[in-house]
Amino acid sequence: MDLMDAAKAVQANAYAPYSKFRVGAAIRTASGAIFAGCNVENVAYPEGTCAEAGAIAAMAAAGEREIAEVAVIADGDDPVTPCGGCRQKLAEFAAPDVVVTMSGKGGNSVTMTIADLLPGAFSTRHLDSA
Ligand code: THU
Repeated sequence: MDLMDAAKAVQANAYAPYSKFRVGAAIRTASGAIFAGCNVENVAYPEGTCAEAGAIAAMAAAGEREIAEVAVIADGDDPVTPCGGCRQKLAEFAAPDVVVTMSGKGGNSVTMTIADLLPGAFSTRHLDSA
């Protein structure tokens, strides 16, 4: 299955009554499996969760740990880029060269790597050297 199609399908289930900004994310793992997530907002705003976090949680719950590819979609004019926190969450399970495709309304898309999105990521290297 096309990864962006999976992201678009789950976007339809986004719960975004406050921002009205519906996001879908899909992850392909090293095994070839696809895990999807949507943003789930909350009336206590900071309790809302991003689409990427949902997809990562589904992946981890299935026992998988290695992200091979990521797709994210929303309806803005510009392709949606993961927030700072989600960049760190993705980097936990994705190598620096993993490709993230970001899409906006009308299907316009941009492709970047994890290293592009989070240069100088905090990593186990920092912990291990202390
Ligand atoms: N959001 C995501 O789910 N993923 C992103 O990559 C950017 C932002 C959500 C969080 C919130 O529910 C809404 O979009 C507006 O910020």
